[in-house]
Amino acid sequence: MVNVDVAAELHLQTFGRSASVVALAPGRVNLIGDHTDYNDGFVLPMAIPFGTSVAVSPRADRRVCGHSERFGTTEFSIGDPPTATGGWGRYLHGMAWALTDHGVDVGGFDCVVVSDIPGSSLSSSAALEMAIGTALVSLVGDALDAATLARIGQRVEHEVIGVPVGIMDQLISAAGEAGAASLIDCRSLELQPIPLPESVRVVVLDTGTRRGLVDSEYAKRRSACERVAAALNVAALRDASLDDLGRVDIDPVDRRRAHHVISENERTRAAAHAAAEGDIERLGSLMDASHESLTDDYAVAGPAPDAAVRLARTIDGCLGARMTGAGFAGAAIALVTVDQVGDFVAEMAERFVAPPEQPSTDEPAFHVVWPVDGARVVQPTA
Ligand code: GLA
Repeated sequence: MVNVDVAAELHLQTFGRSASVVALAPGRVNLIGDHTDYNDGFVLPMAIPFGTSVAVSPRADRRVCGHSERFGTTEFSIGDPPTATGGWGRYLHGMAWALTDHGVDVGGFDCVVVSDIPGSSLSSSAALEMAIGTALVSLVGDALDAATLARIGQRVEHEVIGVPVGIMDQLISAAGEAGAASLIDCRSLELQPIPLPESVRVVVLDTGTRRGLVDSEYAKRRSACERVAAALNVAALRDASLDDLGRVDIDPVDRRRAHHVISENERTRAAAHAAAEGDIERLGSLMDASHESLTDDYAVAGPAPDAAVRLARTIDGCLGARMTGAGFAGAAIALVTVDQVGDFVAEMAERFVAPPEQPSTDEPAFHVVWPVDGARVVQPTA
């Protein structure tokens, strides 16, 4: 996990004084339930031991100066429109703006950001939002529950970044529990911890490929789902069954998109049940089925994550493998028996090569992960 002392130390170096608050928020993988959250459906993500740390201190004026170890410096005034800020500063400005609008008077502040979340698909944006939010709320002596903070992060994505994301990434980064995945009902925002069986590990298969979420493909999928929900006369696809889908006259591509979502909701609840029962074979096969549905019906897997999944399934100890998150590029995941995970990772590292149609821009990497707690204020040791 990212070293919070690095954020505290960088704050001291950059601004010449100690940080008042240091906060940490993790990235995530989603075990199953992708492209269901914006359909009011079910997801089963877990927070991972890679994260983003934010160190902040107050300023007397209403200026903000943010410094990111990776992306450099950004400056703005509280009250400026957040869309006027560019680069990573949009997340910082967006969170300051949305918190202020929510009634948390964050005022001016200095801040540094340090992250060790590798690659893409592991929710580095949500972790950044939740770390900033956790730090700022604490800085002004306020408190917000995880669901409210997640909604504020989602609002930033919608209104400042311009991506119509669901709530999964922000909510699991804010509210994850060590040792457990969380079955989230994305309508009620209730989380049910599902302890991960000790006999398995999750392996992040980072293909070293990138593709921004801003890509209109994500928004297109969401619109297709909304069209089908309207045709079925339901609030969201969460309220529809495969039988309902069979009775309505809609565009064939839209039908396949909806087929994925409705079947994925069923698989996700079944997977949570299987995990809770310790039925790791069933959990793995549901993950496999989810990947096929995301490939065939939803068309989002992406060539490199798909190649990683196919290779993973040929290696001993792999119980199931799938893309994770939005898809298109970046990381996939595998569920692997704990006693074979070392050999599994070694073999993936030796054999994985991204396909020519989507080559790696960074070195592929394979990480064994176990669920960690969500966002929190931390005490630097330095
Ligand atoms: C991205 C979004 C989430 C979710 C996933 C797909 O990660 O941020 O809200 O829709 O894609 O499951």
